[in-house]
Amino acid sequence: MALKFDFSNLFEPNVSDGLTEKDINDVEEKVLEAVENFSENTPDFAKLERRWIDSVKELEDWIVNFDTVVVLGIGGSGLGNLALHYSLRPLNWNEMTKEERNGYARVFVVDNVDPDFVSSILERIDLKMTLFNVISKSGSTAEVMANYSIARGILEAYGLDPREHILVTTDPEKGFLRKIVKEEGFRSLEIPPGVGGRFSVLTPVGLLSAMAEGIDIEELHEGAGDAFEKSMEKDVFKNPSAMIALTHYLYLKKGKNISVMMAYSNRLTYLVDWYRQLWAESLGKRCNLKGEEIFTGQTPVKAIGATDQHSQIQLYNEGPNDKVITFLRVEKFDREITIPETGREEISYLSRKRLSDLLLAEQTGTEESLRENGRPNMKVVFDKLTPYNVGQFFAYYEAATAFMGYLLNINPFDQPGVELGKKITFALMGREGYEYKVKEKSKKVIIE
Ligand code: PA5
Repeated sequence: MALKFDFSNLFEPNVSDGLTEKDINDVEEKVLEAVENFSENTPDFAKLERRWIDSVKELEDWIVNFDTVVVLGIGGSGLGNLALHYSLRPLNWNEMTKEERNGYARVFVVDNVDPDFVSSILERIDLKMTLFNVISKSGSTAEVMANYSIARGILEAYGLDPREHILVTTDPEKGFLRKIVKEEGFRSLEIPPGVGGRFSVLTPVGLLSAMAEGIDIEELHEGAGDAFEKSMEKDVFKNPSAMIALTHYLYLKKGKNISVMMAYSNRLTYLVDWYRQLWAESLGKRCNLKGEEIFTGQTPVKAIGATDQHSQIQLYNEGPNDKVITFLRVEKFDREITIPETGREEISYLSRKRLSDLLLAEQTGTEESLRENGRPNMKVVFDKLTPYNVGQFFAYYEAATAFMGYLLNINPFDQPGVELGKKITFALMGREGYEYKVKEKSKKVIIE
């Protein structure tokens, strides 16, 4: 019961023009330096403190009163919740009755300010039975503040006490949200100051909504803990995180600027979104640690099998050879459907086969076709979708991202490229202390 990594199709001779012994030897030392640095100066996200679980469990008696938890958070303060919800609950969880959910809550994540989207969720909840979990590390993100204000406003409009329906998850000291917790008496959870948004899924950020919907958060931490331990292994061939970083770094140097993650499971859709943010925001950097401009990063692309075989695979097999592809494969699904006999010869090959066998055959078929076309690919195999395995996935990829940052000599924990857009938005919305005038374009090409 653990994740299995198959890196074979990244190497010669399995894939033409694949990685060689020499390639590995060239960077192995540097990767091991990254591993050593990780074990000696373990980043806070990998410390998996017991109190992250305890602080969430302390609220359990209150949380069980709610039928629905609505997470109000964006980026790293929402994607982990979505990944947990979709990968570890049935896809129709939010449509099930409370009885079918064994009393556990429905979970919605409002991670945008699209009024159509926000309304569609607000219209589906019974306010009296709803907890809004407002999550923001900085405590000031405009999208989250807007949705917080809306939630608070409708609670008040319906005569409900916001303090009984809002839980704030934010920095223990800093930011506007912490200020309102102190001044207005909301219940709150702490985001460890040393853990950045996209690395925070295993802190109270991800744990509260997961616990509310009945996910075993102890098992999640157990899987992650074991994976972080394995990420400190000094042999790269025994260390999945080191191997992910090493191979992706080498391929990036060979011009593979795109990292496709293709999940053969609809339930893993948001886990791939979580990865997409982690890889993009952590590694897409203008400057290295010396301040020199390097414009580095590897563009993560999401794909779902078998669906995207009919939209992407033509490009991956025959288009520019600029991608490293990672398959996510689930060996055993929670539910199964056997394809019935139809009496038609033309489709008899499908009769009495399991739907999962077809999906798994499609994954193998795609993998083989890519290999034959000299397209490097690897595979992460989940024997089942369990909290242990999903916890492992989070940890392995967080550690791999840290290692990749080390190899690229960049800071994977900041996101300066996001800040300018945020500041301009504040200015456009009239926030005090922010000024920006959208510049008149000297050349306009507009078609109406
Ligand atoms: O990873 C990150 O740091 C970002 O994606 C943030 O999570 C995102 O911008 C939301 O920030 P905050 O939690 O401060 O509202």
